[in-house]
Amino acid sequence: MAMHNGRHLANLALVGFMGTGKTSVGRVIAEYLHFEFLDTDDLIQTRTGRTIADIFAKDGEPAFRALERQIVGELAARNKTVISTGGGLPTNLENLKALKAHALVVCLWAAPEKIWERVRNQSHRPLLHDPDPQRKIRELLAVREPFYKQADVLINTDQRSAREVAQQIVLQFKLATRPAR
Ligand code: S3P
Repeated sequence: MAMHNGRHLANLALVGFMGTGKTSVGRVIAEYLHFEFLDTDDLIQTRTGRTIADIFAKDGEPAFRALERQIVGELAARNKTVISTGGGLPTNLENLKALKAHALVVCLWAAPEKIWERVRNQSHRPLLHDPDPQRKIRELLAVREPFYKQADVLINTDQRSAREVAQQIVLQFKLATRPAR
């Protein structure tokens, strides 16, 4: 199994703010690496039979975060999987630590203006149901930045297509998992 500074890099995890392209980039990476693709939000929705918005609205954010923690605990059993995570998942340092135990953690970064461009026509994210979503994006991003920056690799997606970002990440993953000589 691929080792990296004493870690077993069986998987690749994507973290980052909403709208940075984790899902689209993750699917392309999975194709390149012949890995399975898994999205923590999808898993939560399939498992509960409910939408993220419904969980936030009826049970509140802490209930959603508890579901995320539970999923993260199960991910250690995965192998050859690209894991795309919900934007708030790494703000729990235990989650980040648990991911790092078996995955190279890559953060997709984007400027708040870019994020707004990408999410403005979507309505499924409860945290952006706000009278001033652009302000909310800047605020959340500022709070989360120190967490995102603890990823193993940080990639700016502002000027790049999903395919270019994916290619860069595949390269990083291959470097990190190449056999030591
Ligand atoms: C969230 C991001 C969403 C989803 C939930 C909360 C967040 O995932 O997990 O709405 O806290 O940033 P995406 O990053 O895939 O949009």
